[in-house]
Amino acid sequence: MIATDFWSTPPNTLTPAELAEKTATLQKRLSEITTRFTDIRFATSLAAEDMVITDAISKSKAKIALFTLATGRLHQETVDMTKTTEDHYGIAIQKVYPEEADVQAFIDQYGMNGFYDGEEPKKACCGARKIKPLNAALLGADAWLTGQRREQSTTRTELHFEELDDARGIVKFNPLFDWTEADIWAYIKQENVPIHPLHLKGYPSIGCEPCTRQVKKGEDIRAGRWWWLQNDSKECGLHINK
Ligand code: ADX
Ligand code: SF4
Repeated sequence: MIATDFWSTPPNTLTPAELAEKTATLQKRLSEITTRFTDIRFATSLAAEDMVITDAISKSKAKIALFTLATGRLHQETVDMTKTTEDHYGIAIQKVYPEEADVQAFIDQYGMNGFYDGEEPKKACCGARKIKPLNAALLGADAWLTGQRREQSTTRTELHFEELDDARGIVKFNPLFDWTEADIWAYIKQENVPIHPLHLKGYPSIGCEPCTRQVKKGEDIRAGRWWWLQNDSKECGLHINK
Protein backbone atom coordinates (compact mmCIF):
# COMPACT_ATOMS: atom_id res chain seq x y z
CA MET A 1 0.00 0.00 0.00
CA ILE A 2 1.28 3.48 -0.80
CA ALA A 3 0.84 6.41 1.53
CA THR A 4 -2.29 8.35 0.56
CA ASP A 5 -0.40 11.58 -0.08
CA PHE A 6 1.17 10.32 -3.33
CA TRP A 7 -0.28 10.58 -6.85
CA SER A 8 -2.52 7.69 -7.77
CA THR A 9 -4.15 6.59 -11.00
CA PRO A 10 -7.23 8.76 -11.68
CA PRO A 11 -10.77 7.38 -11.50
CA ASN A 12 -12.67 6.81 -14.73
CA THR A 13 -14.67 9.94 -15.52
CA LEU A 14 -15.41 9.11 -19.17
CA THR A 15 -18.68 7.77 -20.45
CA PRO A 16 -18.41 4.61 -22.57
CA ALA A 17 -19.36 6.69 -25.64
CA GLU A 18 -16.60 9.23 -24.96
CA LEU A 19 -14.01 6.50 -24.55
CA ALA A 20 -15.22 4.71 -27.70
CA GLU A 21 -14.82 7.95 -29.65
CA LYS A 22 -11.29 8.52 -28.34
CA THR A 23 -10.34 4.94 -29.21
CA ALA A 24 -11.77 5.21 -32.72
CA THR A 25 -9.86 8.45 -33.28
CA LEU A 26 -6.64 6.83 -32.12
CA GLN A 27 -7.19 3.95 -34.55
CA LYS A 28 -7.89 6.43 -37.37
CA ARG A 29 -4.65 8.25 -36.58
CA LEU A 30 -2.63 5.02 -36.71
CA SER A 31 -4.31 4.09 -39.95
CA GLU A 32 -3.47 7.49 -41.47
CA ILE A 33 0.19 7.07 -40.46
CA THR A 34 0.48 3.57 -41.94
CA THR A 35 -1.25 4.67 -45.14
CA ARG A 36 1.20 7.50 -45.72
CA PHE A 37 4.46 5.93 -44.51
CA THR A 38 6.29 2.62 -44.77
CA ASP A 39 9.11 2.40 -42.26
CA ILE A 40 7.43 3.64 -39.07
CA ARG A 41 8.93 3.26 -35.61
CA PHE A 42 7.42 3.83 -32.18
CA ALA A 43 9.60 4.85 -29.21
CA THR A 44 8.20 3.26 -26.07
CA SER A 45 9.29 4.02 -22.52
CA LEU A 46 6.80 1.40 -21.23
CA ALA A 47 4.94 4.10 -19.26
CA ALA A 48 1.14 4.48 -19.42
CA GLU A 49 0.78 6.55 -22.63
CA ASP A 50 3.13 4.24 -24.49
CA MET A 51 1.21 1.20 -23.31
CA VAL A 52 -2.00 2.72 -24.76
CA ILE A 53 -0.29 3.16 -28.13
CA THR A 54 1.20 -0.34 -27.93
CA ASP A 55 -2.25 -1.78 -27.26
CA ALA A 56 -3.76 0.17 -30.17
CA ILE A 57 -0.95 -0.85 -32.56
CA SER A 58 -1.33 -4.45 -31.53
CA LYS A 59 -5.15 -4.45 -31.95
CA SER A 60 -5.00 -2.77 -35.35
CA LYS A 61 -2.05 -4.90 -36.50
CA ALA A 62 -0.50 -1.67 -37.79
CA LYS A 63 2.93 -2.19 -39.32
CA ILE A 64 4.86 -0.14 -36.80
CA ALA A 65 8.11 -1.34 -35.22
CA LEU A 66 8.66 -0.77 -31.50
CA PHE A 67 11.92 0.16 -29.83
CA THR A 68 12.95 1.26 -26.37
CA LEU A 69 15.99 3.22 -25.26
CA ALA A 70 17.68 0.93 -22.76
CA THR A 71 19.72 3.68 -21.12
CA GLY A 72 21.44 1.44 -18.57
CA ARG A 73 19.93 3.57 -15.75
CA LEU A 74 16.31 2.36 -15.95
CA HIS A 75 14.43 0.90 -12.98
CA GLN A 76 14.46 -2.90 -12.88
CA GLU A 77 10.65 -2.61 -13.14
CA THR A 78 11.02 -0.91 -16.55
CA VAL A 79 13.35 -3.62 -17.80
CA ASP A 80 10.87 -6.25 -16.59
CA MET A 81 7.98 -4.34 -18.19
CA THR A 82 9.61 -4.67 -21.61
CA LYS A 83 9.41 -8.46 -21.33
CA THR A 84 5.88 -8.33 -19.84
CA THR A 85 4.73 -6.27 -22.83
CA GLU A 86 6.43 -8.51 -25.37
CA ASP A 87 4.83 -11.59 -23.81
CA HIS A 88 1.38 -10.02 -23.43
CA TYR A 89 1.13 -8.83 -27.04
CA GLY A 90 3.37 -11.44 -28.69
CA ILE A 91 5.58 -8.69 -30.13
CA ALA A 92 9.28 -7.84 -30.12
CA ILE A 93 10.57 -4.55 -28.76
CA GLN A 94 14.03 -3.59 -30.00
CA LYS A 95 16.33 -2.55 -27.14
CA VAL A 96 18.60 0.26 -28.18
CA TYR A 97 21.69 0.61 -25.98
CA PRO A 98 24.07 3.54 -25.63
CA GLU A 99 27.62 3.27 -26.93
CA GLU A 100 29.93 2.17 -24.12
CA ALA A 101 32.55 4.76 -25.12
CA ASP A 102 30.00 7.61 -24.83
CA VAL A 103 28.88 6.47 -21.38
CA GLN A 104 32.49 6.11 -20.25
CA ALA A 105 33.36 9.59 -21.54
CA PHE A 106 30.46 11.04 -19.53
CA ILE A 107 31.53 9.19 -16.38
CA ASP A 108 35.16 10.26 -16.83
CA GLN A 109 34.19 13.90 -17.18
CA TYR A 110 31.31 14.24 -14.70
CA GLY A 111 31.15 11.10 -12.56
CA MET A 112 28.50 8.34 -12.70
CA ASN A 113 25.75 10.56 -11.23
CA GLY A 114 27.19 13.87 -12.41
CA PHE A 115 23.80 14.90 -13.84
CA TYR A 116 22.79 16.07 -10.34
CA ASP A 117 25.33 18.90 -10.68
CA GLY A 118 23.30 20.93 -13.15
CA GLU A 119 21.82 21.30 -16.58
CA GLU A 120 24.98 20.82 -18.61
CA PRO A 121 26.00 17.42 -17.18
CA LYS A 122 22.36 16.29 -17.31
CA LYS A 123 22.29 17.20 -21.01
CA ALA A 124 25.53 15.32 -21.55
CA CYS A 125 24.23 12.18 -19.84
CA CYS A 126 20.91 12.26 -21.76
CA GLY A 127 22.93 12.92 -24.91
CA ALA A 128 25.00 9.76 -24.44
CA ARG A 129 22.31 7.49 -23.04
CA LYS A 130 19.21 8.69 -24.94
CA ILE A 131 19.72 11.13 -27.81
CA LYS A 132 22.54 9.42 -29.68
CA PRO A 133 20.81 6.02 -29.32
CA LEU A 134 17.52 7.62 -30.49
CA ASN A 135 19.25 8.97 -33.59
CA ALA A 136 20.64 5.50 -34.28
CA ALA A 137 17.23 3.89 -33.69
CA LEU A 138 15.62 6.22 -36.23
CA LEU A 139 18.21 5.87 -38.99
CA GLY A 140 16.37 4.93 -42.19
CA ALA A 141 12.88 5.48 -40.71
CA ASP A 142 10.24 7.49 -42.61
CA ALA A 143 8.31 8.51 -39.52
CA TRP A 144 8.25 7.94 -35.80
CA LEU A 145 5.70 7.98 -32.99
CA THR A 146 5.81 9.14 -29.39
CA GLY A 147 3.39 9.05 -26.47
CA GLN A 148 3.67 12.76 -25.64
CA ARG A 149 0.59 14.72 -24.58
CA ARG A 150 -0.05 18.47 -24.45
CA GLU A 151 -1.25 18.33 -20.89
CA GLN A 152 1.98 16.79 -19.61
CA SER A 153 4.06 19.91 -19.41
CA THR A 154 4.40 23.63 -20.09
CA THR A 155 6.93 22.65 -22.75
CA ARG A 156 4.35 20.50 -24.59
CA THR A 157 1.28 22.78 -24.83
CA GLU A 158 1.88 23.46 -28.54
CA LEU A 159 2.23 19.80 -29.47
CA HIS A 160 0.42 18.61 -32.64
CA PHE A 161 -0.54 15.23 -34.02
CA GLU A 162 2.01 15.64 -36.81
CA GLU A 163 5.27 17.55 -36.60
CA LEU A 164 8.39 17.82 -38.67
CA ASP A 165 11.36 16.47 -36.75
CA ASP A 166 13.93 18.77 -38.32
CA ALA A 167 16.72 17.24 -36.26
CA ARG A 168 16.23 13.93 -38.07
CA GLY A 169 14.53 15.10 -41.24
CA ILE A 170 11.50 12.87 -40.77
CA VAL A 171 7.91 13.22 -39.64
CA LYS A 172 7.03 12.68 -36.00
CA PHE A 173 3.57 11.77 -34.76
CA ASN A 174 2.06 12.24 -31.31
CA PRO A 175 -1.19 10.26 -31.62
CA LEU A 176 -2.19 11.06 -28.01
CA PHE A 177 -1.35 14.78 -28.18
CA ASP A 178 -4.87 15.81 -27.12
CA TRP A 179 -5.56 13.03 -24.61
CA THR A 180 -5.96 13.85 -20.92
CA GLU A 181 -4.59 11.82 -18.06
CA ALA A 182 -8.17 10.63 -17.41
CA ASP A 183 -8.47 9.44 -21.04
CA ILE A 184 -5.26 7.41 -20.71
CA TRP A 185 -6.34 5.65 -17.55
CA ALA A 186 -9.89 5.05 -18.77
CA TYR A 187 -8.46 3.29 -21.84
CA ILE A 188 -6.01 1.26 -19.75
CA LYS A 189 -8.73 0.07 -17.41
CA GLN A 190 -11.24 -0.70 -20.15
CA GLU A 191 -8.74 -2.63 -22.31
CA ASN A 192 -6.91 -4.30 -19.40
CA VAL A 193 -3.61 -2.92 -20.62
CA PRO A 194 -0.60 -4.13 -18.59
CA ILE A 195 0.84 -1.25 -16.59
CA HIS A 196 4.24 -0.36 -15.25
CA PRO A 197 4.21 -1.29 -11.52
CA LEU A 198 5.64 2.09 -10.49
CA HIS A 199 2.39 3.76 -11.61
CA LEU A 200 0.85 2.02 -8.58
CA LYS A 201 3.52 3.46 -6.28
CA GLY A 202 3.06 7.20 -6.83
CA TYR A 203 4.92 7.63 -10.14
CA PRO A 204 2.79 9.28 -12.90
CA SER A 205 5.83 9.77 -15.18
CA ILE A 206 8.75 7.35 -15.42
CA GLY A 207 12.22 7.93 -16.82
CA CYS A 208 15.63 6.77 -15.61
CA GLU A 209 15.80 5.58 -11.99
CA PRO A 210 18.15 8.24 -10.55
CA CYS A 211 16.18 11.04 -12.27
CA THR A 212 12.63 10.00 -11.36
CA ARG A 213 10.80 10.07 -8.06
CA GLN A 214 7.26 9.84 -6.71
CA VAL A 215 5.04 12.93 -6.79
CA LYS A 216 2.61 14.10 -4.16
CA LYS A 217 -1.12 14.35 -4.79
CA GLY A 218 -1.90 17.63 -6.58
CA GLU A 219 1.72 18.17 -7.67
CA ASP A 220 2.61 18.57 -11.36
CA ILE A 221 2.76 15.11 -12.95
CA ARG A 222 6.33 15.76 -14.09
CA ALA A 223 7.44 17.12 -10.72
CA GLY A 224 9.26 13.85 -10.08
CA ARG A 225 11.41 14.16 -13.23
CA TRP A 226 14.80 15.92 -12.81
CA TRP A 227 13.30 17.60 -9.74
CA TRP A 228 16.49 19.55 -9.07
CA LEU A 229 16.14 21.51 -12.36
CA GLN A 230 13.79 24.31 -13.50
CA ASN A 231 10.61 23.34 -15.37
CA ASP A 232 11.84 24.38 -18.81
CA SER A 233 14.94 22.17 -18.46
CA LYS A 234 12.84 19.10 -17.73
CA GLU A 235 13.18 17.62 -21.19
CA CYS A 236 15.91 15.19 -22.03
CA GLY A 237 16.18 16.43 -25.61
CA LEU A 238 14.38 13.47 -27.18
CA HIS A 239 11.66 15.89 -28.23
CA ILE A 240 13.60 18.93 -29.32
CA ASN A 241 12.74 19.03 -32.99
CA LYS A 242 15.26 21.57 -34.19
S1 ADX B 1 11.22 12.59 -21.53
O1 ADX B 1 11.74 13.39 -22.66
O2 ADX B 1 10.76 13.39 -20.41
O3 ADX B 1 12.11 11.49 -21.12
P1 ADX B 1 8.72 11.25 -21.40
O4 ADX B 1 9.14 10.31 -20.34
O5 ADX B 1 7.75 12.33 -21.05
O6 ADX B 1 9.98 11.90 -22.16
O7 ADX B 1 8.16 10.42 -22.60
C1 ADX B 1 7.65 11.04 -23.77
C2 ADX B 1 7.81 10.09 -24.91
O8 ADX B 1 9.20 9.96 -25.23
C3 ADX B 1 7.34 8.70 -24.63
O9 ADX B 1 5.95 8.59 -24.83
C4 ADX B 1 8.15 7.90 -25.62
O10 ADX B 1 7.58 7.98 -26.91
C5 ADX B 1 9.48 8.63 -25.62
N1 ADX B 1 10.42 8.04 -24.65
C6 ADX B 1 10.76 8.51 -23.43
N2 ADX B 1 11.65 7.69 -22.83
C7 ADX B 1 11.89 6.69 -23.69
C8 ADX B 1 12.70 5.51 -23.69
N3 ADX B 1 13.48 5.19 -22.65
N4 ADX B 1 12.67 4.69 -24.77
C9 ADX B 1 11.91 4.99 -25.84
N5 ADX B 1 11.13 6.08 -25.90
C10 ADX B 1 11.11 6.91 -24.86
FE1 SF4 C 1 21.15 10.23 -17.56
FE2 SF4 C 1 19.13 10.87 -15.97
FE3 SF4 C 1 19.09 11.51 -18.61
FE4 SF4 C 1 18.82 8.96 -17.76
S1 SF4 C 1 17.40 10.69 -17.41
S2 SF4 C 1 20.04 9.65 -19.44
S3 SF4 C 1 20.27 8.91 -16.01
S4 SF4 C 1 20.47 12.32 -16.99
